[in-house]
Amino acid sequence: MEKIIDENKQGESLVLHQKPGNNRKLFIESYGCAMNFSDSEIVASILSEQGFNTTQKLEEADLVLVNTCSIRDKAEQTVRKRLEKYNAVKRDYNPKMKVGVLGCMAERLKTKFLEEEKIVDLVVGPDAYKDLPNLLAEVDEGRDAINVILSKDETYGDISPVRLNTNGVTAFVSITRGCDNMCTFCVVPFTRGRERSRDPQSIIEEINDLWNKGFKEITLLGQNVDSYLWYGGGLKKDFVKARDMQKATSVNFAKLLELCANAQPKMRIRFSTSNPQDLTLDVVKTMAKHHNICNHIHLPVQSGSNRILKEMNRLHTREEYMTLIDNIRKIIPDCAISQDMIVGFPTESEKDFQDTVSLMEYVKYDFGYMFTYSERPGTLAERKMDDDVPEETKKRRLAEIVELQQKHSGYRTRQNLNQVVEVLIEKESKKSNLQWSGRTSQNLVTVFPKEHYKIGDLVMVKVTDCTSATLIGEVTGYSENN
Ligand code: SAH
Ligand code: F3S
Repeated sequence: MEKIIDENKQGESLVLHQKPGNNRKLFIESYGCAMNFSDSEIVASILSEQGFNTTQKLEEADLVLVNTCSIRDKAEQTVRKRLEKYNAVKRDYNPKMKVGVLGCMAERLKTKFLEEEKIVDLVVGPDAYKDLPNLLAEVDEGRDAINVILSKDETYGDISPVRLNTNGVTAFVSITRGCDNMCTFCVVPFTRGRERSRDPQSIIEEINDLWNKGFKEITLLGQNVDSYLWYGGGLKKDFVKARDMQKATSVNFAKLLELCANAQPKMRIRFSTSNPQDLTLDVVKTMAKHHNICNHIHLPVQSGSNRILKEMNRLHTREEYMTLIDNIRKIIPDCAISQDMIVGFPTESEKDFQDTVSLMEYVKYDFGYMFTYSERPGTLAERKMDDDVPEETKKRRLAEIVELQQKHSGYRTRQNLNQVVEVLIEKESKKSNLQWSGRTSQNLVTVFPKEHYKIGDLVMVKVTDCTSATLIGEVTGYSENN
């Protein structure tokens, strides 16, 4: 299973309203995490000021951009394949087309990209998108261009992303960039740089703007949202050096959530991703206090073994994690909890793996994303440890936990049978054009007959049936929060 924001969205190319007067054509597609999809909206916004309208046809594009992911080797291979495709299109139909690589692979491979992939004209790291107009001027003059400088303060807070290609109901709002955690398996701290938080004022303005445009749900995005800290700008790690006044007026994640929930009391709010070592009970209490904050926490643990957690530099134990789960359930009994898990991290024994299994049995996660360990160049694990778990063992362990997770998801889903749940209508069901599809507060997909309801409505649905991951029901009426 690949970690995805939505299986159907991988590689989706972004389409925006055509701005009159723009006469160059941009094809932009994204891979990887939600942050990449959100960044592509920022890039498209910057380029619409440079005369570009989006297109979905590679054959007619003047500029092709691919926003890339480095998290696992497979993600990088997918991008390499896309570059081959662009190459073929350029050769056969569109010789004037220019190709740029954005995101984590650009940052990781830097100039190597220009050497290895002859098709690539432009390489831009995740903190350098504002430099795109200059870089494109270089490319227009026939030179390759690259900017992979990571920044201490770039949050793109001043750019309003364009999101006209979406369902018009749900949107991402990024709140932090980078990550300081240095999990030993993870390439993100190298590709996305040091952690910095975005000005809460600009976050609130964006949420207000989204509400005015008809959006009904936002997801606050960051590699580690609980670590959000605003004290007037600057890196998280420099907070200790901040002035007393800055410290006293600082905004942490619990406070930010509260600000967002109050700014638009009818806007549904989600957030991702939480890190067990940073998620505070203040955050959970804030969730409990505000109806519009959804009852779901994505809380990756990666392993159930204390020894492996330590090798991964995850700064908590299995027992601390279990206590956190207990506390979340005490404060919000119906809170959905989901996981990310890695099997086959170097030195993982059968006993370590059984600890992962037993932790999953303990939590019974609502859903999860599970991966076999993929060694990433430059990470501490790559430098210090042998990738010594055989591929078949990794695959067997993965299959085992995927099956276990399916069992748990089924169990959690069935708890909703005969209940009435609140659902935000997002789109037509994939299976039937007579049905709507939306999600509950716990992030469970729910389908039901359309009747007279419309996209963006918040409705109450009586659950009459379910599959392992989808609820099926009928609307009983509008939610009082509609
Ligand atoms: N905090 C981030 C994590 C990004 S990576 C977030 O916002 O979700 C997403 C998931 O990919 C991680 O939680 C981890 O389970 C998995 N992952 C990261 N590096 C990996 C690697 N080297 N091999 C396999 N899986 C990995
Ligand atoms: Fe990666 Fe760990 Fe940060 S998984 S993104 S280093 S929290």
